[in-house]
Formats: sequence, structure tokens, C-alpha cells
Amino acid sequence: MNILLTGGAGYIGSHTAVSLIEAGHDVAVVDDYSNSSDEAVKRVEKITGRSVNLYEADVADKKKAMEILKKEMPDCIIHFAGLKSVGESIEKPIEYYRNNIDTTLTLLECMRELGLSNIVFSSSATVYGDDHTPPFTEEMSKGMCTNPYGWTKWMQEQMLDDAQTASEKGGDWKKPLSVVLLRYFNPVGAHESGLIGEDPQGIPNNLMPYISQVAVGRREKLTVFGDDYDTPDGTCRRDYIHVMDLAEGHVAAAEYAAGRSGTEIFNLGTGTPYSVLEMVNAFSKACGHEVAYEIGPRRAGDVQDSWSDATKAEKVLGWAAKRGIEEICRDAWNWQSQNPNGYNN
Ligand code: NAD
Ligand code: UD1
Repeated sequence: MNILLTGGAGYIGSHTAVSLIEAGHDVAVVDDYSNSSDEAVKRVEKITGRSVNLYEADVADKKKAMEILKKEMPDCIIHFAGLKSVGESIEKPIEYYRNNIDTTLTLLECMRELGLSNIVFSSSATVYGDDHTPPFTEEMSKGMCTNPYGWTKWMQEQMLDDAQTASEKGGDWKKPLSVVLLRYFNPVGAHESGLIGEDPQGIPNNLMPYISQVAVGRREKLTVFGDDYDTPDGTCRRDYIHVMDLAEGHVAAAEYAAGRSGTEIFNLGTGTPYSVLEMVNAFSKACGHEVAYEIGPRRAGDVQDSWSDATKAEKVLGWAAKRGIEEICRDAWNWQSQNPNGYNN
């Protein structure tokens, strides 16, 4: 299949590009480099030995999006493009709603005009809110989000599903849509080559890039956000999934989306939670020295526990995460130690 990745120069998109190419698909990428650069795509080409059609454009720019889609006429679009920082979304809600909602609306309009029918969307476990007890299953109702970023994911899911329902009735739609909503848990790690990985701008908000930067000497110590939760070691628990497992989940989802119609939701997680301190210890083992940390106060908006029930993806897509926290930490360290300053090393 010919698969177009919006936001394909980013962290998850670049790893997915590798897996798609290795599975025999052709890949095109459109990105505005607002949180990335073309270096990641060059490295994807280096890993795979294949070229990627690369377009620099804002996906919300309908004229440009139409030009690219007309040229590519992809069998499937995987829509990664979006702004993703929870804290920033609280400071800049308008920018988050504008970018995340607009990119999705523009893609849907273009798909309707061009008769393109398959789309896989990057959603997040954040849409479960804090109304449920884990493990989260896809049948659970969406909850109340605690920040604008979460609401954009919540709304984008709704928009895609509403468009799918309308497309079944015909009207302006040439074909019924096939929509696959992927709810990621906590993507971490890097490609085993160490050539591509997560390269956050500024101070990392997320745990694993922060730990990696402490380990490599870019930051002094990690602050653990609270050790007074009702968990075995008092720190929060999450479902950390290796980004290459996640990437392979996208291959399965894109292949599943083709040749069907409807909306289907899948959790992409491992089903196994680890605490913050367990992750710190696993990383210390992988890098061969202690990762310095101190205990700080809780972070506002954090839920105590979040992990998936990932059995639906296994049953329907035939996909399950294979890599554990040793591989996660080994590969994250391999990337960080080879690229101490990310792609600007
Ligand atoms: P990322 O920032 O590395 O990648 C997103 C890419 O989209 C970037 O390359 C950015 O330049 C591009 N982009 C943003 N707005 C664009 C626009 N208007 N036009 C074209 N390109 C645009 O983030 P990521 O971690 O790879 O996340 C990919 C997707 O997965 C995002 O939608 C994110 O919200 C979602 N997601 C990520 C996580 C996570 O923990 N990383 C968890 C759940 C969901
Ligand atoms: C966060 C977002 C979530 C988003 C996801 C993307 C919040 C509340 N949630 O999830 O919406 O989809 O990122 O990956 O921001 N931690 C520390 N010290 C740190 C950083 C994190 O102790 O410096 C802890 C957190 O308290 C949490 C765990 O590590 O318990 C994981 O945090 P993080 O990587 O930010 O992910 P989430 O909070 O699960």
C-alpha cells in the first residue's frame, strides 16, 4: 500500500515509517517541522535503504494538503500531525484547538473530495479521563479530560466517527470511511539502531526523556512527582510501550483499515504497569550507573494509575507488544548516548 504519514518526521511517525517500509509498504511524509526536522526522515531512509517522498507543509493548509493528496492518492493516511504537550496546551489552548482540530477537518474534507477512505488516527489513553479504574478497555466511555490537549484528542475521535457515520449514507461521500482510532498508552524507547529516537525541545515533560537526559549528563537529577500514592512504592504506575511495538501496531492497523468500513478503536499498550521508581531502576541498570533523583510534590493533573487492556488489538489485529522494559531502557539509552543532544548532536 501507499501510506501517507502526516507528522511523519516526529517521534512516533518516524519509527512507524521504518516498520511500514520493512513490511513492504511505500511511505510518504508530510510535516511542517514545527516539532521536528527532516533529519529524522533522512535517518529512516538510512535504516531502511529506501526513499521516502517528503513534503514540507502545514496539513491544515487545504490547498497544499489537496496538492499532496492528489499526487499521492494514498491507500491509507496515518494522522500523527498535532501538538502534544499537556502543559503547553493549558497555556496556549487556542493554538492547540486550532492546529489539532483544523488538521483533522482539512484531511476529512480532502478525503471526501478525492474519494480517499482509510484513516488511522493517533489518539491517547488520556481520553479515558480519570473516571475509570484500569485496565482500560475500549468499551469504557470516554471520560472528562483535564487539559486542552486531551480534549483535542477527544474531539478529533468524535469528528472522525461522525464523518464515518455520514459517509455510510453516501451523500457527498464517494465511499464509506474506514476509521481506526489508536489509543496509545506511554510510548517510550527508540529504534534499536540508535539512529532515531525521541528528541524533545527544551526541558522534557515526560518521564523517559527526562531520565535519559539525566543519565547522559544533560540534567542534574529527576524529580519524582510524588511518592505518596496508593501503590506498592508510592509512585504512579503507567503502561510504557516500546515505540517499535507501537510502530508495528500501526502496520497492523493500516492493513486492517484497508478494505473495510466503520470506526474501530484499539488500545496500543502492553497491559503491564510499571511505577516511576521501577523505570528509574531499570534505566540505571541499562546505562550502568545510578540515575539521580529526588522526591518532589505530586504534579497537578496526574492520575495514579493508567494501563491498558490490550486484548482487543491481539484478537482483531493479531498484534501484541513484544518488548519489555529492559529493551525499552536499552534502546532509549542507545539512542541518547549516541545522540546526547538529539538530532543536533
Ligand atoms: P511529535 O511532536 O514528535 O510528532 C508530531 C509531528 O507533527 C511533528 O513532527 C510536528 O512537526 C508535526 N506537526 C504538528 N502540527 C503539524 C501541522 N499542522 N502540519 C504538519 N505537521 C505538523 O509527537 P509524537 O510523540 O510523534 O506524537 C505523534 C502523535 O501521537 C500526536 O498526534 C500525539 O498527540 C499522539 N500521541 C503521542 C503520545 C506520546 O506520548 N508521544 C501519546 C499519545 C498520543
Ligand atoms: C502525559 C500526559 C498525557 C499524554 C502523555 C504523552 C499528563 C498529566 N499526561 O502522560 O496526556 O498523552 O504524557 O506521553 O501530563 N514523572 C515524574 N517526573 C518527571 C516526569 C514524569 O515523576 O519529570 C512521572 C509522572 O508523574 C507520571 C509518570 O512519570 O507518573 C509518567 O509521566 P509522563 O511521561 O509525563 O506521562 P503521563 O503523565 O502518563
